[in-house]
Amino acid sequence: WVSAADGRIQGWDWEASDENGFTELMNRSGWVDIEAIATQDQVNGHDSKIRVKIVTASEEENEFFFPGFIDTHIHAPQYPNAGLFGSSTLLDWLETYTFPVESRFGSPPDPKTGHQTQTDPKDTPLLAQQIYDQVISRTLSHGTTCASYYATTHVPATNALSSLCHSRGQRAFIGRACMDNPDFCVDYYRDFSADDSIVATRQTIEYIHTLDPDGKLVKPIITPRFAPSCTRPALQSLGKLAASYSPPLHIQTHISENINELALVKELFPEADSYAAVYDKYNLLTSRTILAHAVHLTADERALIRTRDAKVSHCPASNSALGSGICPVRTLLDDGITVGLGTDVSGGYSPSILEAARQACLSSRLLGHSAAWQKDHPQGDGWEKLSVPESLYLGTRGGAAVVDMASDLGGFDMGMLWDVQLIRLGRVKLVEKSPLDGVVDGSVDLVKAGPVGNVDLFGTESWEEKIQKWVWSGDDRNVKAVWVGGRLVHSRV
Ligand code: GUN
Ligand code: FE
Repeated sequence: WVSAADGRIQGWDWEASDENGFTELMNRSGWVDIEAIATQDQVNGHDSKIRVKIVTASEEENEFFFPGFIDTHIHAPQYPNAGLFGSSTLLDWLETYTFPVESRFGSPPDPKTGHQTQTDPKDTPLLAQQIYDQVISRTLSHGTTCASYYATTHVPATNALSSLCHSRGQRAFIGRACMDNPDFCVDYYRDFSADDSIVATRQTIEYIHTLDPDGKLVKPIITPRFAPSCTRPALQSLGKLAASYSPPLHIQTHISENINELALVKELFPEADSYAAVYDKYNLLTSRTILAHAVHLTADERALIRTRDAKVSHCPASNSALGSGICPVRTLLDDGITVGLGTDVSGGYSPSILEAARQACLSSRLLGHSAAWQKDHPQGDGWEKLSVPESLYLGTRGGAAVVDMASDLGGFDMGMLWDVQLIRLGRVKLVEKSPLDGVVDGSVDLVKAGPVGNVDLFGTESWEEKIQKWVWSGDDRNVKAVWVGGRLVHSRV
């Protein structure tokens, strides 16, 4: 049962727990273990299996519990732009689509003083409240129980996102985006000094620490947007700021996403040996750092990231949509780097980690067809391909390790937090007469039948097969209920 006091798994005696509507949904019936990750020390020593609790209590045997998804990289203010990118690539996409929408979440700092003009919670634009509320609803409905959010530069709106996650019950890391480099950032949306960037960042950290003093649900995360958006003094101060807390704060940023971005980093930081070395120089490459994308890393950079035990957020939907490239995930894993999945909304077009898992499988299947890969891997044995269980592993246990919560999240181990989704697969109910015999059109209740796909027509599919069909053809209509720390935070009839 899930202990009401701390929302952790204490056993499987459902009858003992009448909290949050559990009992009507559950009955003991058994486990299915899905094997995942066939390489690299079973990913840093964690259990290679995803244990899925199968529920056969309902009249139809089509439901199972699955660990909540962990989105290790998502931009909350970009949600209104999901699906909007045209034929842009990273740098022009930022200017054309992204900075304009993010700038709407508050007023810019005063260019004379450099200070934020708005620091009061009541200065949060209504638009920011509404969009952030919608992002939380939407990600919860897709089974995301924990997300590492980028907000904007605006303190009031960033604090509002923190409060909303806290009150709605979504586990979250919240980062105020730091962007003080006038050589890259646009004047209508940037910090006007490194000092002001740090002061504003501190304000959001203090707000979150007051909101959730033990960090049970919401934690701050230091967020230099990426190297080009920050000056050297800002990067240095952010590294120091993260280290000044005990335990040190989490850090998130982007790395090696796009070829033009790599050239820009070289131009802006000519003294650095590599992109990863820029972050390392300012103590931003730590075991609590989440690096998004990591598509074009060199072997030396991978070794450095491994040495620092920094983590990678793989964002395959975004990498394809913005034409950034195909991330060699297997190489990262084999080099001993911890990897999770990110939606990267709105570089990514979907708020769903199920979609990210699907795209992780798809992009890994295309990787072997690229000339660059073939040059380095002439054996062509398909080693690079990720399986469905592996992609699910990355979306759960992998993500848990990325946010440094591997012993709390991502599975059903005793003592873990009850951050869980109840998945319902679609069913066809065979009717007595065939349509040809005059059964009225529309007699199938589509809501009861559930989503398209996932139909076990002959009742012969194994759970492994059902789960494959869920990953390849499922969506948020399959998510019947979601809990975070034992609290029911989403359900659909
Ligand atoms: N690099 C810097 N900012 C961003 C962003 O908002 N999205 C993505 N995908 N890459 C970035
Ligand atoms: Fe991103």
